[in-house]
Amino acid sequence: MNEPEVLLSEDRIAERVREIAREISADYADKDGVVLIGVLKGSFIFLADLSRALSIPRSIEFIAVSSYASGSRSTGAVRLIMDVRGNIENRHVLIVEDIVDTGHTLKYLLGILQSHRPASIRTCTLLHKADCVEVDVDIDYVGFQIGDEWVVGYGLDYAERDRTLPYIGVVAPDDRG
Ligand code: IMP
Ligand code: MG
Repeated sequence: MNEPEVLLSEDRIAERVREIAREISADYADKDGVVLIGVLKGSFIFLADLSRALSIPRSIEFIAVSSYASGSRSTGAVRLIMDVRGNIENRHVLIVEDIVDTGHTLKYLLGILQSHRPASIRTCTLLHKADCVEVDVDIDYVGFQIGDEWVVGYGLDYAERDRTLPYIGVVAPDDRG
């Protein structure tokens, strides 16, 4: 097993998270705050850093979905594991994702969350595999565009491995299995 090769260093991630937080804080300045909805598990570290870098009133909710059995190929079939607990009706909601690959998960989440009748829904993802998009969904805030490779760290895993690496690294194809 090799160490994942560094794609985005801890410093680069921290700087970009601060930039996105400034952008979101400005966009929501005239609202009565934002409800950040973290998508478990992958977004938990990004959500922790992003939420603390905002300068607007915010609250935190979580939603859990599962899209991949355990490996690294999307099936497109998304399953709801846990819905949001708090009442988000008439609130301004921001979905916080770790990564958008095919887009199936985000599209599914938008459908579920719309049914709670929020005042607005926007989407934020730390990473976007732009070449892998299968369904068209609007993403309002993107941290980094990346290529078609499997990344881990900063919340993202490969079969539960490497979630708590401080940086984002690429898993060599030989190490997937
Ligand atoms: P999508 O439905 O294909 O857009 O996949 C989204 C979900 O797949 C993400 O929320 C992740 O949980 C997972 N995922 C996709 N690509 C990666 C990756 O490179 N590393 C870790 N998780 C990934
Ligand atoms: Mg995710």
